[in-house]
Order: sequence, then structure tokens, then C-alpha cells
Amino acid sequence: MPLTPVITEHWDAPDLYTIDGYRRFGGYRALQAALQQDPDAIIGTVKDSGLRGRGGAGFPTGMKWGFVPQNDGKAHYLVVNADESEPGACKDIPIMMANPHALVEGVIITSYAIRASHAFIYIRGEVPNAVRKVANAVRQAREAGLIGSNILGSGFDLEVVVHAGAGAYICGEETALLDSLEGYRGQPRLKPPFPAVAGLYASPTVINNVETIANIPYIIDRGVDWFRQFGTEKSPGFKVFAVSGHVNRPGIYEAPLGITMAELLDCAGGMRDGRPVKFWLPGGSSVPMLTAEHLDLPLTYEDMAAAGTMLGTGTPMLFDDTVSVVKAVTRWLEFYKHESCGKCTPCREGTYWITGMLERFEHGTGEPEMLETITSACLQIGGRSFCALGDAAATPYPAAMKFFRDEFIAATSTPVDETFDPVASYVFAGAAAR
Ligand SMILES: Cc1cc2nc3c(=O)[nH]c(=O)nc-3n(C[C@H](O)[C@H](O)[C@H](O)COP(=O)(O)O)c2cc1C
Ligand code: SF4
Repeated sequence: MPLTPVITEHWDAPDLYTIDGYRRFGGYRALQAALQQDPDAIIGTVKDSGLRGRGGAGFPTGMKWGFVPQNDGKAHYLVVNADESEPGACKDIPIMMANPHALVEGVIITSYAIRASHAFIYIRGEVPNAVRKVANAVRQAREAGLIGSNILGSGFDLEVVVHAGAGAYICGEETALLDSLEGYRGQPRLKPPFPAVAGLYASPTVINNVETIANIPYIIDRGVDWFRQFGTEKSPGFKVFAVSGHVNRPGIYEAPLGITMAELLDCAGGMRDGRPVKFWLPGGSSVPMLTAEHLDLPLTYEDMAAAGTMLGTGTPMLFDDTVSVVKAVTRWLEFYKHESCGKCTPCREGTYWITGMLERFEHGTGEPEMLETITSACLQIGGRSFCALGDAAATPYPAAMKFFRDEFIAATSTPVDETFDPVASYVFAGAAAR
């Protein structure tokens, strides 16, 4: 399957990040067309396109915009989630560095559609280059009359604020991000109310991922049929896949949804030293792992769900047979333990205890019974935590046990007889009971 560069099409142009470079390839043409349409018509186009959010959950974008109450006399806000901190995810930052005006044009069109006069771009603070590139693009757009009062004579006013976060994974969770933006400690809020009704400053707010918003100018400019020629019925369009791990050419590959991991792996030059794939994750550390037998599955939201995982951020990480799955899972749990915001008990305590036990297996001092205790802890975190970080923390271990149970058993301190079955029945009976 061929690659389909759209957002990435002109990344080799050295001045694409400037407004002149972007305009040379048709940039800001979509904005002119959008401002001549009714805002509801733009929401309708995005609904018809079937675009799904690229931040991880794949929620339909047009539907999300449609939840914002219109003509309610309240201020509306657009917030762009540019906090990209998921282990393995690296696609929003390259978009902001290489093609920041696609994001800015998308922000202006989206704000017009949802009738917002203020937009915020919340960028991960550890990436000052991305912050500078986006801030520069906003400045250039303002100087060109594309941000500010009466944009292109349309009567539409918009202010755009670029905000750098202070470096916490939880601030990518949309409601924690809003708290952080308001100046509070970033911790998730209770939902409902959902941000579309009561978000930033308790006003209707749309929160979308960078890649989601960067798609908007292309959809408005080229149309629904063009967009839907890529991908599948339930996962239309293309995706900025970021392939990492033990591949020969890790990097960004923009391809239609539905491309298989095997095809993407070919694009990335195959596995390092020709070694076999041991396990891979379709979209960040928060989604369950798959193995070599799943390489021919289409990378779509529906096919990944059917395989028991998720497309997530669409940033596959591949690991070869030199990697210990015990070590990999331990590293991810150390991350979740460190990033747990501490608001709720299952995640705060559970990530602490699971990590401690996994570290013992990594060093060969884990007791066999602990495998069951970890399973039990995962069951008590997943679905019982305040936000999805808890669910994410409860994901890697059961997924690894599904495929690599022997490796955990081999890492125990005492010999285990062959009838010992630490978890399988517990994991799957427990999951089914929920
Ligand atoms: C712990 C955690 C971290 C997250 N980090 C990000 C992030 O960095 N960027 C992002 O777009 N979404 C992130 N999300 C998902 C957001 O909460 C939200 O679903 C997303 O920004 C919605 O945008 P979309 O509809 O365009 O996908 C995170 C969620 C959780 C639970
Ligand atoms: S699940 Fe974890 S990150 Fe989310 S609110 Fe609870 S403690 Fe905080």
C-alpha cells in the first residue's frame, strides 16, 4: 500500500514552517473558503468526513464539535492538546516543527465553526523548539490579518494563545489540561459535566489533538469525498504514523488507515539486523501489545479493537527478540507510577505496588504468587480509577501475560512446577466478570 503524504507532503521544503512557504503550497486557501460558509456547514463537513480524533480514543471529531451548545450567549473555547507525552508517541511534535501553519489554520477554522473567539494551544513544555515554531506561526498569522479582529473582513474575531506546560503526562488528559491551563495543579476533573458543556472557565470547550486539527484545512480545501477515498468506512482518512523501536528506519510515515503493520514495517526498512518481531504496540504504551502473528492486521480503529488492542496514537513501537518482555513492562509501569497524579487510591497505590513487584521479577527475586497478586492489582486499577491513566497502567502486564507467561514464570526466584498457572484464569475470568 503506498504512502499518502498530506500533512507531511512538503516537509522537505526548508521554509514550510513560515507563512510564505505554507502559502506557496495552498496554505490558508481553506480558511478563505471556510469564512464564506455558515459555521454549521463546516461542522457538517467534518461530521461527513468521518474524521476521528487522533489523540488516542478515536472519538468522531464532528460529533464532538456538535455537542457544543450553539447560540447560548456564552464564551466558547478551543483547546489544542499538544502535550504529547505518551511513551512511544512522537507525531504531534514533528507536525508542529515542520508544518505549524497547518495547525494554526486548523485552529482558526475550528474556532470559527464552534463559534469560539479564544483558542489555546497547550504544548508540552519540554519541547521548546515546538513551542517557538508554533508561537512564530501564530505571530505571522496575526501579522497577516488571519488572527485578531474581523479576520479577512468576515466579522469573525479570534485570539490564539500558545501555552507551554511544565512537563506532566497527566496534563495530556483533557480535564487535567484544563485545570493546568487555568493555573491549578493538573489533575483530572469529574465527568460529567463534559468539557463541551463546562470546560475551560466552566464554558463550552472543544479539546482536540494537534493531528486532528491539522487535518481540518485539508478536509475543507479538498472535500469529504477526497478524504474518504483513504481508509475504511469506520476509519476514514490517513494517519501520521510514527514508527519506532528496532526498525532500520524509524520515523514518520503518513499512510491511509488500513495499512498493515507489515506494510509499514517494510516502509521503515524492516527489522534491525533482520531479527524477528517479538512484540509490538500499535499506539503508545497504553495499548495492549500484539505479536508477529498480528502484523498483517489492518491498522484501523475497528481491526485493532477486534484484536483486543487499540490504535491509540497510531505510533507503533516494535521490539525484536533480544528484548525481555519483563523488563519492558517494568519500564512502562515505572513511568505510570511516576506520572500518577495521586488523586485516586487504586492508581496511586496500585502503580506503586505493581512496580515494586515487577522490579523483583526483573532481578529474578519475584515469588511465583506475586504474579497472581499483580494480576489482582491490575484488576483493581482498571475500570476503578478516576481517569484513563489508571486503565493504561493496568494494561501492559495482563497483555504481556497473555503472550509471554513463560517469561514471567522463568523470572521467579523459586522453581515452579509445570501445573502452576498463576493468572490466566484469574485475568480472563476477572475481565469477563466486569
Ligand atoms: C493520561 C492521559 C494522557 C493523554 N495525553 C494526551 C496527549 O498528550 N495528547 C492528546 O491529544 N491526547 C491525550 N490524551 C487524550 C485526551 O484526554 C483527549 O481524549 C484528546 O486530546 C482528545 O482529542 P481528539 O478527540 O482530537 O483525539 C491523554 C489521555 C490521558 C488519560
Ligand atoms: S487514575 Fe491516576 S492519574 Fe488518574 S486521577 Fe487517579 S491517580 Fe490521578
